[in-house]
Amino acid sequence: MTVTPLALATALIVSTTAMLADDSSSVTPLKDAFDGKFLVGATLNGWMLSDADHPAYELIETHFNSVSPANAMKWGPMNPSLDEYELEPADTFAAYGAAQGLDMIGHTLFWHSQTPDWVFEDEEGNPLTREALLERMRERARMMAARYADRVKTWDVVNESIESDGSWRKSKFQQIIGDDFTEQAFRIAMEELPSDCVFLYNDYSMTDEGRRDAVVAMAKDFQAKGIKIDGIGMQGHWGMDFPDTKDIAASFEAYASTGLKVHITELDIDLLGRDRFFGANVDIRKIEVTEENNPFPDGKLPPEEEERFATRYAEIFDTLLKHSDTIERVTFWGVTDQDSWLNFFPVRGRTNFALLFNRENEPKPAFHRVVETAKKH
Ligand code: XIL
Repeated sequence: MTVTPLALATALIVSTTAMLADDSSSVTPLKDAFDGKFLVGATLNGWMLSDADHPAYELIETHFNSVSPANAMKWGPMNPSLDEYELEPADTFAAYGAAQGLDMIGHTLFWHSQTPDWVFEDEEGNPLTREALLERMRERARMMAARYADRVKTWDVVNESIESDGSWRKSKFQQIIGDDFTEQAFRIAMEELPSDCVFLYNDYSMTDEGRRDAVVAMAKDFQAKGIKIDGIGMQGHWGMDFPDTKDIAASFEAYASTGLKVHITELDIDLLGRDRFFGANVDIRKIEVTEENNPFPDGKLPPEEEERFATRYAEIFDTLLKHSDTIERVTFWGVTDQDSWLNFFPVRGRTNFALLFNRENEPKPAFHRVVETAKKH
């Protein structure tokens, strides 16, 4: 048999492809798997921002095209007391994201949590007036605009101001300002940040009907009043059984009725769960870690648990990909299981499993199932 140059070239291509397929470095990057569907993000936490050699950076640069700061841009961590500023972590975040050309999220301008008491008080410790608190919010927005908004373009303007039943959360912001706290916050953002920024309302349990209807009504109300709102952030701190993917899909449809895009802003799946190892009605935050409620303390999951976890991730991504026209971005809250906040919440000190990379920074079976799911769409 004569070997033609074409046959030789084909044989070479086939064998190179086979070699690549066997090589673990040929893992499909998440951002390629979701190219043309949505952006894919991860969070940078304090450990990463204070260690330029942190192993998470390699994963971020390979797999993600968007980043959120876990804590660095929250009011409390940035500005723990009236004249005290801790801006280095946020500066590092913005400089890193800009240098890598990543989409960056300003998380979060206004949130009842991780906001210190001084924000709501005058120098004698008396509650501020509505006008004084609005002015303080404006100063923060102005500072964020001047320092970051040339590079950080998407902002969680308000985080979690609506309860599951659709009522306004009785936060200090709401108590001092009134029921128009969220509206005033968006007006301030519109006035102080550049007009090319993207403004989101962000919340958890966004599949709950009461909250969902209230968020849709609020977005329509803002649109009617000419208040800039550009997207709806569903945090996506989800469990192994809850929410049902039917309810996730129904929520995308409800939010799409506003004409706004949905951003999944904080996706993780809590494998250990809130009630799997506890009876109902316990105050889970007070629970101490035990062998029973922390069953995999060495960070290794038995194959059947890996499989359950991968199957849940696959069904969630199947739902997300079916609605990719509505979805702008999917951000994971963390990079690896090692840095997930679910090791501390709601039970402090458990070894939890929530993300697509394990504690050795390797892709988990769930990672591969998510990529396979993306290839089917
Ligand atoms: C979490 C951080 O990941 C933790 O490090 C911190 O101790 C508490 O906050 N909803 C949000 C995020 O909007 O800001 C929270 O992040 C997780 C829940």
